[in-house]
Amino acid sequence: MSIEKSYNSWAEQYDTNENKTRDLDKKATVETLSKYNFENVVELGCGTGKNSEWLITKAKSVIGLDFSEEMLNIAKSKIASNKIRFQITDLKKPWPIENNFADLITCNLTLEHIKDLDFIFNQALQKLKANGKFFVCELHPARQYLGSKAKYETEKGTEELEVYVHHLSDYLDAAKKNSFNLIEINEWFDNRRENEVPRLISFVFNKYGHQ
Ligand SMILES: C[S@@+](CC[C@H](N)C(=O)[O-])C[C@H]1O[C@@H](n2cnc3c(N)ncnc32)[C@H](O)[C@@H]1O
Repeated sequence: MSIEKSYNSWAEQYDTNENKTRDLDKKATVETLSKYNFENVVELGCGTGKNSEWLITKAKSVIGLDFSEEMLNIAKSKIASNKIRFQITDLKKPWPIENNFADLITCNLTLEHIKDLDFIFNQALQKLKANGKFFVCELHPARQYLGSKAKYETEKGTEELEVYVHHLSDYLDAAKKNSFNLIEINEWFDNRRENEVPRLISFVFNKYGHQ
């Protein structure tokens, strides 16, 4: 099944299934982004709006982009605010956002489905204002090496989605190639026991030197 179709069928259960990755991602997002100020936000792969709900409490405007109509329908049904607009978009194609628009672009649990990181960082570069921040929080590469991937249960069994492994160097190379400066990197654990493989990795990149 295509990634888009899989999310259309997962949408109804996405918020309610047990999902430690989803829950830890929310914690990582709030803890990391609470210390920044931002007005105009673009959220990549916003899904059912789990993080959009928090982002609109801090931002003046949020644009949520996602290619799954059903995920967006859930988001729209949960969030009634004139601060937010959701738009069906395939992030692998040029984004329907004005250049130099955003103070913050966020991308959570989405890049495992996108092979070409360079394209994403290049679009982010164009859409951010100078000194804008790009926050990325994804399944940790070490988890990906162990075979972890987005999946959900159906009547027919477990549906595993198509994913791409991104090494730490892939993120850093794409950022460097697009003139981003790494200002924060964090690893997120379920319990932070000794030798535990982290579940998530997050980065905050700064756009600098471009107007
Ligand atoms: C695991 S969900 C994460 C949703 C939300 N960011 C969260 O943290 O709960 C991944 C989302 O990325 C979206 N997605 C994956 N590939 C995409 C693409 N190429 N273009 C747009 N959306 C995409 C899916 O439709 C899905 O809503």
